[in-house]
Amino acid sequence: MATVHDAVEVIIAKRDGAELSDSQIDWVVDAYTNGVVADEQMAALAMAILLNGMNRREISRWTKAMIASGERMDFSSLSRPTSDKHSTGGVGDKITLPLAPLVAACGVAVPQLSGRGLGHTGGTLDKLESVPGWQASLSNEAMLAQLEDVGAVICAAGAGLAPADKKLYALRDVTGTVEAIPLIASSIMSKKIAEGTGSLVLDVKVGTGAFMKDLARARELARTMVALGTDAGVHTVALLTDMSTPLGLTAGNALEVRESVEVLAGGGPADVVELTLALAREMLGGAGRSDVDPAAVLASGKAMDAWNQMISAQGGDPSATLPVARETHVVNAPSSGVLTRLDAMAVGLAAWRLGAGRAKLGDDVQAGAGVVWHARPGDPVTEGQPLLTLHTDEPARFERALASLDGGYDIAPAGTPFAATPLLLDRIS
Ligand code: URA
Repeated sequence: MATVHDAVEVIIAKRDGAELSDSQIDWVVDAYTNGVVADEQMAALAMAILLNGMNRREISRWTKAMIASGERMDFSSLSRPTSDKHSTGGVGDKITLPLAPLVAACGVAVPQLSGRGLGHTGGTLDKLESVPGWQASLSNEAMLAQLEDVGAVICAAGAGLAPADKKLYALRDVTGTVEAIPLIASSIMSKKIAEGTGSLVLDVKVGTGAFMKDLARARELARTMVALGTDAGVHTVALLTDMSTPLGLTAGNALEVRESVEVLAGGGPADVVELTLALAREMLGGAGRSDVDPAAVLASGKAMDAWNQMISAQGGDPSATLPVARETHVVNAPSSGVLTRLDAMAVGLAAWRLGAGRAKLGDDVQAGAGVVWHARPGDPVTEGQPLLTLHTDEPARFERALASLDGGYDIAPAGTPFAATPLLLDRIS
């Protein structure tokens, strides 16, 4: 029989820097999921974990306990291998949208259980819900059938998957305990391991617009997650990628869907294409299909076919006109020269304040709201040219969005040397 502990005993142990035993971890995660440990007790424990950390054994046990809190999915009946991608969250990060159909078109099934945006980072489900008719919820049976027929599913995780994480994530979000590496790693990996993917590629974002602001912490998070995945028998690789500048040229739900469709049509911003292909290569490698060249498949139009099927299978109309915001406001370049910095956090906050994101769980998002930038760092700009266009249905939102862009970009005199930050910073396997 499982040992019964006491919440205060577990909190005090971690507060005083002790290692938690396997049985303390199993008990506290289970008791929290079942309402025996109260929110305020788990909040205190989360803060103690943030301040004092956890060792590998504790993180591994915590992850297992979160997996055990719910169901595990099984894709072993599928006729093709599975691979999934998870991003730790960024601004303009629409990569899942072109990536899932691309990898499906390469012959590997992609079961993407995605989330909604919170704060300044966007969520894949919010983006796809701007496609008229598209539904985020699927039963496990419908998901399996779509994976077999189309090869790609992007949907909401059902309530049965890692319920401990659902509760704990919402609590962390309002108690200043999101940024703890043991809690981020176990949150992400419990969901991915429970989901049952055969291989996994992690896109760990680094920079102002990411949870991890510096490379050292991002590496530690990536190593922790790769170890958790590998120990659970999931082939796991992490790419560390730059999030000091937002990805592509758009942040906002329908705006990002439009940009993703451009990528699937063979165009789109170079950085979005580069990252989509880099992640696709890793996913194919993890699934044992390194023989397929995703660039050739993208150019062939087969990824676009897979996108159309994937959207239609979930009730969406891929040919429908996407929503457009009622109002726009243009920010012009204040001087001529070269754009040397466009800050991801400033753009993410602006998009959020324009209505692309929600202030709290359950709020509605605006499909058409967001930011379009007309130059990327390294591009020449001329005084008075449009630099950013803000989109929203509610013009009262412009003022606060403009405030978040204050100091969010730099223009240096023409000829100033400019060294671009590489998009791909490291790879951990
Ligand atoms: N994404 C998650 O799913 N969990 C975290 O803790 C952070 C990002």
